[in-house]
Amino acid sequence: MDFRGKWIFVTGASAGLGREFARQLAVDHGANLVISARRLQKLEELKAELEPKGVQVVCVTGDMSKPDDVDRVIKEATAGRHLYGAVLNAGATHFGHHHHLPWDDFLSMLQLNVTSNVRMATELVAHMKAHRLGGGLMLVSSMSGMMPVPYQSAYSGTKAFLNSFGTALAHELEGHPVSLTVFAPGGIQTEMTAGEKFSTLTKWLAPADVTARAGLRAMRKRERLAVPGFLNQLGAFTFRFVPRRFAMGQLASTYRKALLDSGVKE
Ligand SMILES: NC(=O)c1ccc[n+]([C@@H]2O[C@H](COP(=O)([O-])OP(=O)(O)OC[C@H]3O[C@@H](n4cnc5c(N)ncnc54)[C@H](OP(=O)(O)O)[C@@H]3O)[C@@H](O)[C@H]2O)c1
Repeated sequence: MDFRGKWIFVTGASAGLGREFARQLAVDHGANLVISARRLQKLEELKAELEPKGVQVVCVTGDMSKPDDVDRVIKEATAGRHLYGAVLNAGATHFGHHHHLPWDDFLSMLQLNVTSNVRMATELVAHMKAHRLGGGLMLVSSMSGMMPVPYQSAYSGTKAFLNSFGTALAHELEGHPVSLTVFAPGGIQTEMTAGEKFSTLTKWLAPADVTARAGLRAMRKRERLAVPGFLNQLGAFTFRFVPRRFAMGQLASTYRKALLDSGVKE
């Protein structure tokens, strides 16, 4: 896949991994961008940073936990342009005891991490098939979709859905002029992991720019499922053979300790 001069849509581009995807797509690959998130000011700052590099950048705001916004964002992203690619990256977690997650916040997470991505993938695959530009989509999932993560129970459930849905759809797209890559990184240094609760886990977090580079490489190579970084790949491989009870026990005690150290009570 060659992104130069093509239009790529990036969700969750106001921060973290999404901002890095947008930067690298523009600066390293010469792509034009439609960038989306809720915070317009952050998107406009990114547009001002990237347009002097010789690419076009269009900002579209929307709250992807709201179905009407999702439909409007898709419409605005595709209005008057044929997308070659899309990086569906926006997502949110709840790190803590599951019973501390308010029900409405769970529903928002489900809509953001799952429903909006299925909606966008469905519409954008149809758009890309119709225009036959030969590009592709990337669904940003997580390693937590491969192994259930205690204290991020709902989040890892949403990512397990994405891994399953995305890799299955990738196979359905075999022979069509559009590919789908599920990108499943481990922990990354972003706003998502910047809080006190993650403070004892920061040594395990990869830089966002390194992770974004690995994601774009996988998307360009049309890999169906990509886990970046040797240690993550080793972890994903090992998890298939180590007894689940043991592996999950290790994860649970690491995260329980991180929560306790940051002052979170049962
Ligand atoms: N950080 C990690 O350790 C890690 C590990 C594996 C996978 N991931 C995945 O990587 C992706 C990016 O995460 P990140 O770490 O870069 O997170 P982040 O720093 O918190 O950034 C999240 C992005 O999503 C946007 N977003 C959040 N809620 C939204 C909503 N309701 N509507 C529209 N946009 C929304 C945010 O923009 P606004 O706030 O401006 O809306 C922001 O641009 C996520 O899918 C995440 O699950 C992260």
